Amino acid sequence: MKSRRKIAIVGGTGGMGQVLVKELKPYADIIIISRSIEKAKQFSNKFGVQGGTLKDCNNADIIFVSVPINSTYETCQKLFQIVKPGSLIIDISAVKTHLKKLETELPDHISYISMHPLFGPDGSFKDYNVILVPIKENNWLSELQELLDNLGAITSITTIEKHDFFMSKIQVAHHFMYLILASYLSDTPIPPSFFTRSFKKTLANFQGIEKNLNAILEIQQANPYGKKTRTEIKSLVEKFISLNEAEINELMQQIKAFKKDYIIKNE
Ligand SMILES: NC(=O)c1ccc[n+]([C@@H]2O[C@H](COP(=O)([O-])OP(=O)(O)OC[C@H]3O[C@@H](n4cnc5c(N)ncnc54)[C@H](OP(=O)(O)O)[C@@H]3O)[C@@H](O)[C@H]2O)c1
Repeated sequence: MKSRRKIAIVGGTGGMGQVLVKELKPYADIIIISRSIEKAKQFSNKFGVQGGTLKDCNNADIIFVSVPINSTYETCQKLFQIVKPGSLIIDISAVKTHLKKLETELPDHISYISMHPLFGPDGSFKDYNVILVPIKENNWLSELQELLDNLGAITSITTIEKHDFFMSKIQVAHHFMYLILASYLSDTPIPPSFFTRSFKKTLANFQGIEKNLNAILEIQQANPYGKKTRTEIKSLVEKFISLNEAEINELMQQIKAFKKDYIIKNE
């Protein structure tokens, strides 16, 4: 960063907020923002940084918004009345539709970049993908990218539409499969002596997802393509229900295309 910035982290008490506090602390003066001053103090003492409530964002150069998806729009609207001219707001919501409304309401004196770190509260930026959706960047983009580079993240830039469409596949469809498998097996307890190696790997992945269940269910509900994605999966399951020779042939063609795009290309 050009100079040591003041960074406010709204929701810095939550899962992802705490990741931001830990990761950004070496690079900036941090203030953890909570709806409760007592909670802010508790977490700021834990991390050895400042604590405050939303009004204390008035002094920050950069304000991260790390609150639930459904509260992101409302929190940003409040911030528009508080933050100082020239500052940058960065939300990290896993769904970006709120931005369509926000970009029309963004005051001239505030910059805004939306960001989606593609890891959960157990993770860190190093070697993980981070998607950026610049709304009004006013020369902040290169500084943010430099900061993320220093943290070891792999950044890419996209649009609101593309982000939510791709995430309806990578998050909605993917997580939904795990949730449905768990639901399917929930009434048939099977002894662990029958677990295969690959089933054990699936269970380990499921545990990762289950730890983050609130965030995952929020994405299922808030992604604008969520219902469509789940409906498409339902139709696909019905299509391949008899798995006769013709269906197997069609399925194999699709698996070949999937391998080419998702596995071979990335090896
Ligand atoms: N979890 C993930 O894997 C993940 C990954 C990438 C991005 N994200 C995104 O990161 C954001 C935060 O997710 P998280 O999992 O860290 O959530 P979280 O653990 O529930 O933390 C969110 C924080 O927001 C505050 N908050 C809760 N309800 C609020 C409300 N109604 N209005 C304003 N603030 C409220 C709370 O802080 P106070 O009580 O102190 O105010 C809470 O600690 C979400 O937008 C999510 O989509 C999550």
